[in-house]
Amino acid sequence: MRICILGGDGYLGWPTAMHFSARGHEVMVVDNMAKRGWEEEVGATPLEPVPTLKERARRWRQKKFQHIDTVIGNIADDGQLMQDICRDFRPEAIIHYGEQPSAPYSMLNQENAVYTQCNNVIGTLNVMFAMREHCPQAHLVKLGTMGEYGTPNIDIEEGWLEVTHNGRKDRVLYPKKPHSLYHLSKVHDSHNLEFASRMWDFRVTDLNQGVVYGIDTDEIGNDPELCTSFHYDDIFGTVLNRFVVQAAIGMPLTVYGSGRQIRGYLNIRDTLRCIELAVENPAGRGEFRVFNQFTEQFSIMELAERVRESASEQGLKVEIQHLRNPRVEQEDHYYHAKHSGLPGLGLEPHLLSNGVIGHMLTKAMDGAAKVNEASILPKVDWKHGWQQPVADEPAGIVCLQPARA
Ligand SMILES: NC(=O)c1ccc[n+]([C@@H]2O[C@H](COP(=O)([O-])OP(=O)(O)OC[C@H]3O[C@@H](n4cnc5c(N)ncnc54)[C@H](O)[C@@H]3O)[C@@H](O)[C@H]2O)c1
Repeated sequence: MRICILGGDGYLGWPTAMHFSARGHEVMVVDNMAKRGWEEEVGATPLEPVPTLKERARRWRQKKFQHIDTVIGNIADDGQLMQDICRDFRPEAIIHYGEQPSAPYSMLNQENAVYTQCNNVIGTLNVMFAMREHCPQAHLVKLGTMGEYGTPNIDIEEGWLEVTHNGRKDRVLYPKKPHSLYHLSKVHDSHNLEFASRMWDFRVTDLNQGVVYGIDTDEIGNDPELCTSFHYDDIFGTVLNRFVVQAAIGMPLTVYGSGRQIRGYLNIRDTLRCIELAVENPAGRGEFRVFNQFTEQFSIMELAERVRESASEQGLKVEIQHLRNPRVEQEDHYYHAKHSGLPGLGLEPHLLSNGVIGHMLTKAMDGAAKVNEASILPKVDWKHGWQQPVADEPAGIVCLQPARA
């Protein structure tokens, strides 16, 4: 198949590109390198240096004799880019990762919130119109997040809800109550794409993905020249990746609030498999199909305990520290999210074991000397935006103070 991957320089995009290329597909990746700019802006550095997209594509060709086509461009700002790609490459599947992916980044200030929503929503609109013009039969696989749902006091369905109201029934998009302006951008995307399926007979799979962890895929192997970006900072680092790095450098695991918040998680290997299953089993014409893409759910404290346990198996003593929660979110809540669609297509999950955490820990310890500890503590407060962290509260509690107080 001809597969176009938007956001192909990112944490998930690059491993996905290699995964499809290794299976003989014709792969094109598109990225504007925005993530590398955001990293500089907030002072975040990946655990290991990440070669440029072109260097990694060159290495892949050298090693596997397979070509990954790279296009550097902005799918949101340049309205013509996706038109040209859809006209010339004629993708059969488009995998859309190309968005600003961080909740704290979107909550940092007005500029970032506006940028996040414009970048994400306009980019997706440009994809929609390019598909309508040049490849209306293509299958769009769009990355959303489980965070779009928030924590409703009812079961979370896979995208749709059967409603009976005043004696009549209908099937409606599941009502969402996300916890950040980033997550809201994904909700807007979902509405726009459901509209496109209805109006223009598009095939769309919207993947509400849980929090991804991990650093290893078959294609990366042990080759640092093919590695993906692994973040552990407060802005781009997902929670388990962050805890593992904290354990590796002897820093307490910083839990926001009580840590009773429950979320869905999955291994990066399962992300790749889920995307592959979605592409191999496309949505029908006019179908807006939604899968909840995660394999297990944990509370933040359960994750912290799991990391502490694995670390102690490696002789590391790890403390857990509770911080005042900088986010506005429920800490005690019902959480039951359905996720049977992808297992129904054949997903066999890689569950979180001490072995998996131990392996991540070993890699984190290898890079420990270069870790920027200051980038780990939370600096974005949901009510007040960018803050300076200060560790001056009693009982080891770190609180956030306004930067210019
Ligand atoms: N990593 C996770 O845990 C997770 C969880 C749920 C959903 N997601 C979603 O999956 C997708 C990929 O996540 P990730 O962790 O790989 O993020 P990432 O930031 O590493 O990758 C996104 C890539 O998209 C590129 N991009 C952004 N805007 C663009 C634009 N206008 N034009 C071209 N390229 C653009 C960035 O430069 C970056 O390389 C995102 O949409 C994210 O919201 C990620």
